[in-house]
Parts: sequence; structure tokens; C-alpha cells
Amino acid sequence: MAPTMGARGGDRGDSELGVETEWTAVLIVKGLSVRYGRSVRALEDVDVELPDDAVLAVLGGNGAGKSTLLRAISGTLKLHRGAVTAGEITFEGERIDRLDPALVVRRGVVAVPEGRQVFARMTVEENLRAGGLGARDARARTAARERVRELFPVLAERASQRAGLLSGGEQQMLAIGRALMSGPKLLLLDEPSLGLAPQMVGRIGAIIKEIHDQGTAVVVVEQNATMALRVAQHAVALEVGRVALSGPAGALAESDEVQRLYLGGHAESEEQAAAEARAAEAHAVGRRLARWGS
Ligand SMILES: Nc1ncnc2c1ncn2[C@@H]1O[C@H](COP(=O)(O)OP(=O)(O)OP(=O)(O)O)[C@@H](O)[C@H]1O
Ligand SMILES: [Mg+2]
Repeated sequence: MAPTMGARGGDRGDSELGVETEWTAVLIVKGLSVRYGRSVRALEDVDVELPDDAVLAVLGGNGAGKSTLLRAISGTLKLHRGAVTAGEITFEGERIDRLDPALVVRRGVVAVPEGRQVFARMTVEENLRAGGLGARDARARTAARERVRELFPVLAERASQRAGLLSGGEQQMLAIGRALMSGPKLLLLDEPSLGLAPQMVGRIGAIIKEIHDQGTAVVVVEQNATMALRVAQHAVALEVGRVALSGPAGALAESDEVQRLYLGGHAESEEQAAAEARAAEAHAVGRRLARWGS
């Protein structure tokens, strides 16, 4: 078992009254082992739990198995010649580890894979419409469209532009927007801030927070631990396919090990964190103003 930091769950105000309520985990990954081909062991006996109203940050260096964990949850390992060799994954109490990717989406689990894969030759609008094909019905689709319009006004402005012409940050927003079009209960994000400028990282962080506030649980894989730990309530750090640390995001952020391994603990990352925080705040203010204006 990996070390668990502090109290798990039940940490939502009730504990002030001395009552320890266990949250009901919506996603449970238990004893999960994954291999690619015969020889590559990418995950080994991994346990991860996510409460239904939370953001979980998955930290870890290159090759730690972060993307593999998301692929296992979204049922897409087969596309990468990978397979679950042990353990199970349940979502809302039902096994999903043997389902085809499309059925996982239908259960409400939607992934935005590494590298913001938008349909470059299609317009922004067409990309979003493609995401809407996974929606339950026309009403759900309209509601999702409205939610995406509110979250990403820039996508509405660029509706008829080809997705390939958007900036990196805008493409990431489109990839997230497309995933939201199917009205997911759980959103899986693989390194949404990769390659983006600090200001854009801050905006992505603010957007993750807002998506969560609207009732969608999120698993966010990040090498940018500063942003991920700021938006998450729970965190897990993977090292060479195993869980090295897990617990409340705040506790992990303060642990020496996380500071040393993932937060750098030096001026540069603090500067970046400050820039990200400023950008997140500016984004939030901008959105509040936009709401008042409407
Ligand atoms: N399709 C594949 N075939 C064979 N091995 C793979 C494949 N995909 C990943 N691996 C291996 O599995 C291990 C975990 O990889 P994974 O991509 O999950 O790591 P990661 O934490 O997402 O890394 P990164 O930060 O670089 O994205 C690595 O050793 C990697 O080389
Ligand atoms: Mg990866």
C-alpha cells in the first residue's frame, strides 16, 4: 500500500463537528496493473479513488504511467496495444474496465487525450458538433452547447474558423469544449497545460475549477503540479507505474517530497505560480463582468 497523507475523505466541514463522514467514491481503481505488449509493465497494483464532487490531480514524471491510467479508465488501452492484466475499475458502482470506449463515454466518462487532438481541418463549430454526438438527447446537447459557449466565448467568436488555425491554448479549449458537449459526469484531462504560456495555464486552471463547480468531476494529469494542486482536492503521485503518494491536494502540496520532486521549490516556479494566479484571477473577473453585462 502506498502511504496515504492525512485523513481521506470526510473532510468537508462535517469534520469540524467531529463527525467523520466517508464520501462515496464515484471512481474506484483497485489493484490495477497494465501492460503494453508482453514486456512493458506500465502500471502495477495502482489504487486510486475519486469522490463524486472532486478534482483529482495525477502527478508524476515522464513515463510514470499517468496517461496509461487515463487510457485504462476511458477504455482506450487497446488502441495503444495495452491491456489490463489485474485489478478493476468501477464508475458509479459498475465495472467499466471491460467496456468499449464508446460505452464508457455513454456512462459519462469522457477523455481529452494528450496533445489536444482537435480535427484540424474541420471548423470549430464542426468539432463541437462532433462532440455533441455523444450527448443523451437534443435537450442535453443544447444545454451542453450553451455551457461551452459560456465557458469559452473565444470559441464562439471563431466558430467558422478551421480548428488547425487556432493557437495552442485555444485548441486546448476546443478539445475540452468538445469533450463537454457530451455532458460528461467525469472529465479526464491529460496534460491540458502542456506547452502553454503561464497565462494560458492559469486560464486552463480557472476553467477546470469552473467545470468542477458546475458539477463535473475531473481527473487532471499534469506535470505542472503547481496548477494541478491548486485546482484539485485530492492528488496522487505516480512513480514508475506505482502510487508513491496519495491524499488531500493541500497536504501533498506541502509535503517535502512533492515540493522537491514536482514543485521545484525554487524561485522560477514561484514566479510562474504567481503569473498563473494573476491570470486565473483576471480570467475569473472577466467572466464575472461578462455575466453582469449579459
Ligand atoms: N503504446 C505503448 N507501447 C509500449 N509502451 C508504452 C506505450 N505507451 C506508453 N508506454 C510505456 O508505458 C510507461 C508509462 O507511459 P505513460 O505514457 O503512461 O507515462 P506518462 O506518465 O503519461 O508519461 P509522460 O509524462 O511522458 O506523458 C512508459 O514506460 C512508456 O514508455
Ligand atoms: Mg502522458
